[in-house]
Amino acid sequence: MRRLFVAGNWKMNTLAESATSLGSDLAKQYPESIEKVELLVCPPFPYLAAVGSAVDGSAIQLGAQNAYFESPGAFTGEVAVEMLLDVGSEWVILGHSERRHVLGETDETINQKVLACLSKGLKVILCVGELLSEREAGQTESVLDGQMEGGLAGLDVESLQNLAIAYEPVWAIGTGVTATEEQADSAHAHLRNWLTNRYNSDVAQDMRILYGGSVKPGNAGSLMSLPNVDGALVGGASLQFDSFSAIIDAAVETTKS
Ligand code: PGA
Repeated sequence: MRRLFVAGNWKMNTLAESATSLGSDLAKQYPESIEKVELLVCPPFPYLAAVGSAVDGSAIQLGAQNAYFESPGAFTGEVAVEMLLDVGSEWVILGHSERRHVLGETDETINQKVLACLSKGLKVILCVGELLSEREAGQTESVLDGQMEGGLAGLDVESLQNLAIAYEPVWAIGTGVTATEEQADSAHAHLRNWLTNRYNSDVAQDMRILYGGSVKPGNAGSLMSLPNVDGALVGGASLQFDSFSAIIDAAVETTKS
């Protein structure tokens, strides 16, 4: 049975005070690790340390939203994996659609980051997902295949234990439009199938595949009860305690058929 995973991606939001108070409210609400659900928040870089202190010892883990693949050195403006680990990050989100489509990251760069993070002990949520135009052109599965092939190139079976996938259709991110249950489960099943073919069925069965894209308290429970959906990567709704805790509670109450 895969442990559900609910992760909050705060993106370029919050200031010091709102970040730390959100972190400490969540830590108060979820003081102890929950067997059924793994929890994570990913604040902006400047607030990682403060939010890390706020959630320390609670069920809430700390993650970053990006990392650079080089070791510390002359890379102005970048943040090294070593620094993220140093401030208590356990996870990092890589390949998010905003980094692919707004900041121009390629599968090759994302792969360099995935390899660097996993080899240094930072766990990875690798995001994949198609544009609306790609879905309309019937290319969803081939886009996902390309992003999986590119992002996971050179990874052995063992390091995959420290990786989760997030399926985030780009047209559903921040738009209020959520994938239907059929669209989500079929994309997730396709990704799982890809993992079986590329690696083996144990890898595919153990891999957590999160759904992301306008997850809200009202749709979280039904999405997470789908057979192939193992949690949620939540953007907008992770910025308010009430909505994020309602999504976490929906995960705790989820039963798989
Ligand atoms: P959203 O963002 O929940 O605001 O749609 C999800 C994400 O981009 O991770």
